[in-house]
Amino acid sequence: MTPRLVAGEMVELQRTFASTFEKQAAEVMARREKFIIALCGGSVAAAFFPLLPSLAVNWTHVEVFWVDERAVPPTHPESNFALASRLFLVPARIPAERIHRMHGELPDLNQAARRAADELKAVAGDPPLLDLAIVGVGEDGHVASIFPSEATGGVATAVAHERMGDPPVLAVHDSPKPPVRRLTLTLSVLAHSSLVIVAAFGASKADALRGAIHGSGSATPVAELLRRAPASLVLLDREAAGLS
Ligand code: 6PG
Repeated sequence: MTPRLVAGEMVELQRTFASTFEKQAAEVMARREKFIIALCGGSVAAAFFPLLPSLAVNWTHVEVFWVDERAVPPTHPESNFALASRLFLVPARIPAERIHRMHGELPDLNQAARRAADELKAVAGDPPLLDLAIVGVGEDGHVASIFPSEATGGVATAVAHERMGDPPVLAVHDSPKPPVRRLTLTLSVLAHSSLVIVAAFGASKADALRGAIHGSGSATPVAELLRRAPASLVLLDREAAGLS
């Protein structure tokens, strides 16, 4: 479905993010006492997560997962969990039993992926259905830790080989963005979410976003995600939108 696109100043993007999050939470929680979200790391987390604690959301019923995690301990400065914890989970007082972090510190990443997959399926079903996924975008068009691959003409190798019934969480051992070892949800899981918010800031992201939004031939992970997601909101600052 065609994404809803909002491009402009950061304060406008923050306002749209906050109102979209609140509306989605209200709609889902009017049907059932559970709102299942997946969070990214990076600049999108830094820009948007501080807004969350003051939203009108019943945080005691929000189940928190991650779209990806770096293979570091949960206290490490590179940990996506640590960032979300500081900016959102602690200030919003999310109950510990609703926080489902990926265990990137485990020496066996495949085991960490299986553990994360089991926890996701136990809460969100099989195949998992997220109510909201929040992702950033890399210059190369990656989302979460799904990176494009030359071998497959742009589509990530993992995406090209995805099959129905595959595990929803993958171990990544060769990420071009450091750290090289990561855990990620698959594109199928992200694209199956009821709503996907894609956000990007800065001129270095402009080409990837232009291709994903306007270029029907683009095969990057972000283009695939926007093509497949049932509903999506794209938030771009002026530079990422190519407006300045
Ligand atoms: C991560 C992310 C990753 C990120 C993009 C964009 O763990 O690094 O979840 O997918 O969102 O790389 O990162 P920036 O917004 O910081 O450029």
